[in-house]
Amino acid sequence: MTYVVMDNCIKCKYTDCVEVCPVDCFYEGENFLVIHPDECIDCGVCEPECPAEAIKPDTEPGLEGWLKINAEYSEVWPNITVKKEPMEEAKKWDGVSDKLQYLSKNPGEGD
Ligand code: SF4
Ligand code: F3S
Repeated sequence: MTYVVMDNCIKCKYTDCVEVCPVDCFYEGENFLVIHPDECIDCGVCEPECPAEAIKPDTEPGLEGWLKINAEYSEVWPNITVKKEPMEEAKKWDGVSDKLQYLSKNPGEGD
């Protein structure tokens, strides 16, 4: 089991989640974060920290596609452990539906 970052993180990237993770298993893309499924210890502390409610356990139905995205990009994007400013238009994008189409495959800066 692992926790998974889902679409409402895209273009928001609040990064409150990275500060609380005890095993530093978040990885940063240009406009999205992912969790490394093999490193996550399922502690659950990140889920309530996300203002966009974009983190869920993979035991919830329908998350297979997002689990795949988290697994794939956590192998190639840089690690992020320190909170940074949200994306410029985070408030505008929070809650917008079908954000998968905006997911950038480019890596973020990490820390
Ligand atoms: Fe990190 Fe715990 Fe969240 Fe997994 S559930 S990503 S270990 S804070
Ligand atoms: Fe994304 Fe929420 Fe973390 S918006 S960066 S999963 S706090």
